[in-house]
Amino acid sequence: MVKLIWEDKNNITSNIEKLKKKYLNNFKKIEILSKSSETPAKKENYSNKWKNKLFWGENLEVLYYLLNDFEEKIDLIYIDPPFFSGSNYNIQVKEADKDYETVAYFDKWEKDFDSYLQMLYERIVLFHKLLTNTGLLFIHLDWHASHYIKLILDEVFGQENFINNIIWYYYNKYSAGKKNLPRAHDDILVYSKTFDYTFNELRMPRKKPMKQLKREMVNGVLKNVKGEDGHVVYRIVKDKKIDDVWKIPCMQPASKEWTGFPTQKHHELLERIIKLGSNEGDLIADFFCGSGTTLLAAEKLKRKWIGCDISEYAIYLTRKRILNFRKNNKKSAEYNFPFELYTKLGGRRQDIIESGFFDKELIIERKK
Ligand SMILES: C[S@@+](CC[C@H](N)C(=O)[O-])C[C@H]1O[C@@H](n2cnc3c(N)ncnc32)[C@H](O)[C@@H]1O
Repeated sequence: MVKLIWEDKNNITSNIEKLKKKYLNNFKKIEILSKSSETPAKKENYSNKWKNKLFWGENLEVLYYLLNDFEEKIDLIYIDPPFFSGSNYNIQVKEADKDYETVAYFDKWEKDFDSYLQMLYERIVLFHKLLTNTGLLFIHLDWHASHYIKLILDEVFGQENFINNIIWYYYNKYSAGKKNLPRAHDDILVYSKTFDYTFNELRMPRKKPMKQLKREMVNGVLKNVKGEDGHVVYRIVKDKKIDDVWKIPCMQPASKEWTGFPTQKHHELLERIIKLGSNEGDLIADFFCGSGTTLLAAEKLKRKWIGCDISEYAIYLTRKRILNFRKNNKKSAEYNFPFELYTKLGGRRQDIIESGFFDKELIIERKK
């Protein structure tokens, strides 16, 4: 089997048990939002005591922490990590008496590709442990690193469990290139843990209805259906199966879903992923959640969720988006499980919490 090697490649497997224990008491619940609804749960093991979870912290620590209770319990993991783009992503933040520029998240690795690969490798090993046997992993990347990460995924998940390389074609973002074609797509690599994974057929309307031969399976062979007169039969088809090239625009500031968080993904992209790879009541996780697009899509689609981000601005926006959605959609309250905010207390985080940061009225704008 082909394997990717980099300097100081470190297989963490033998340390997992030790690190699970180390991080067991790492995170503290700092808030519970919205009262518990007495909804009967779909899955016995979660019962109606389920609470969605949002972690503010380093995701590696969160993954070890979660392994204590969630090994083989997560149905779908989507991540949209830094892409090794070589840029940091800034925001302008306005609050009552302050207006400042700050970094929303970092993606400069001082050309150190090895540490980037090691960063994702460790997390991918832990995702594999957290997924249920019917679960799926979606990793969102682009040309900078996707071909390398594909090899790591083959190593951890098995080449035979590679399902798709979804191309997200964002036709509305102009990317100039004199010596290369303008880059207009991202890659979303999809892996399962076993052959028995959740996969729902998704269909989309055709531009024009199409006349198609009617066919049926006879003894395992697809045959044209014939009418009583012996002629083939046609049908009009108005939709088609979604393939692996998804034409969905980039988020634009004019959208009502726009949060101002850099590289916020389109809600349609996440809704499609969640519908494709999970069912109502399933547990969805995003450990690089940014402005919370995945978690909001999970909430809308009646899935449970776990989210994590290291940036307080990401957590601020995620929390606010979920609460706004709940305020404006009282009808879907049936699935509004309470959600808990966790963090590792101390130092800077303590000060941020004590300043009432999460309840402030902030205006966050992406800086170009
Ligand atoms: C590309 S953004 C995600 C955007 C998100 N999909 C959205 O729609 O808004 C990547 C996120 O990963 C977070 N991140 C990067 N490294 C992390 C780490 N080690 N632990 C937790 N979060 C991390 C960043 O703070 C950033 O918010």
